[in-house]
Amino acid sequence: MDKVLVIGACGQVGTELVENLQYIHGSSQVVASDIKTPINEVFSNSEFVHLNVLDKAQIKEVFQTHKPTIVYHLAALLSATAEENPKFGWELNMDGTFNIFDACIEHGVKRIFWPSSIAVFGPTTPRVNTPQSTILEPNTIYGITKLTGERYCEYYFNRYNLDVRSIRYPGLIGWKSFPGGGTTDYAVDIFHQALKNGQYDCFLNEQTTLPMMHMEDAVRATLEITDAPSNLIKVRSSYNIAGVSFNPEQLTQEIKKHIPQFKISYHPDHRQKIANSWPESIDDQIARADWGWQEKYNLEKLVVNILDNLR
Ligand code: SER
Repeated sequence: MDKVLVIGACGQVGTELVENLQYIHGSSQVVASDIKTPINEVFSNSEFVHLNVLDKAQIKEVFQTHKPTIVYHLAALLSATAEENPKFGWELNMDGTFNIFDACIEHGVKRIFWPSSIAVFGPTTPRVNTPQSTILEPNTIYGITKLTGERYCEYYFNRYNLDVRSIRYPGLIGWKSFPGGGTTDYAVDIFHQALKNGQYDCFLNEQTTLPMMHMEDAVRATLEITDAPSNLIKVRSSYNIAGVSFNPEQLTQEIKKHIPQFKISYHPDHRQKIANSWPESIDDQIARADWGWQEKYNLEKLVVNILDNLR
C-alpha cells in the first residue's frame, strides 16, 4: 500500500489533488502538509502536518514519521508573487525543491511529482503551438526557478535514479479552490465576479491569449503521469500539456451565453508583461504519445462546468 505525502497541499492544485488521492488511496494513506493552516474541510479527512520546506529538520521528521512512498511537492510562489520578492521566490522554489528531492532520495521514496509551468517559456520562444523542446529563456524569476527545477528533475533522475515526473501546467481553472498570486488568476476570479456582481475588471488586456486548463483535467494529468509505468516517462525534465487556449474577450463571450448582462472592463497591470512573455498555445503531442494524455474540457464545456458548480 502506498503512503502519499502532499507538500503545499493548501494551494489551488493541492486542495483538489488531496481530495482525489483520499478517494484513490483511502484517507488514512494520505498525509497533507503546508506551512499554512488548512481551511478547506477536505483536510479534516486525512492527517495534516505543518511543514516548512526550508526547514530540513522538520522535513526529516515528517519523512521519518510518515514514510511516504509517493510525494507530490507543490509548494512554490507563483509568477506575480515571486516578482514582488525575487530572492525569496528563488529560495522557496529552489531550496525547497532541493530539500524535498534530497529527502526523497534519503528515505527511498518510489515516485515524486513536481510541477513545472508554461512560465519556463519566454519572449524568444515560438508563441503558437510551442513545441516540447524549444528556446527556453524565461524572464520572470518564477520561470527561471521552474526551468532550473526541470533541469534538476532530469539530473536527479539520471544521477540518483530519483523517479521524478513533471508537467508544465498552463493556467488552471477550478471552482473548489483559489489560485494565489499567478498571472492566469483572472480566469478563476472572472467566474466569481460574473455571478456575484455581473461585471469584472480584468488585469490583462482582451487580446491576451494564454494556455489554460480545467482543474479536473490538470488533477487527472497529475495522477496519470505519477501513476504511469516508469518506462513510459521518457521526458525526465517536464512535459508540455495543453487544455484550451483563449483570451479574456473570448472567455467573456462564452460567459455571456449564460449571463447575458455580464460586463468586462480592462485595466492591465504589471501582470500584463508577464503574460506577454508566455505562449498562446502548447503542442503536447509527446505527452499524448508517451503516457496517453488527453484533455476533456474545451472552452464551452469549461465555462458550463465552472458556472454550474459555482451556482
Ligand atoms: N498559473 C501560473 C501563474 O500564473 C503559471 O504557472 O503564475
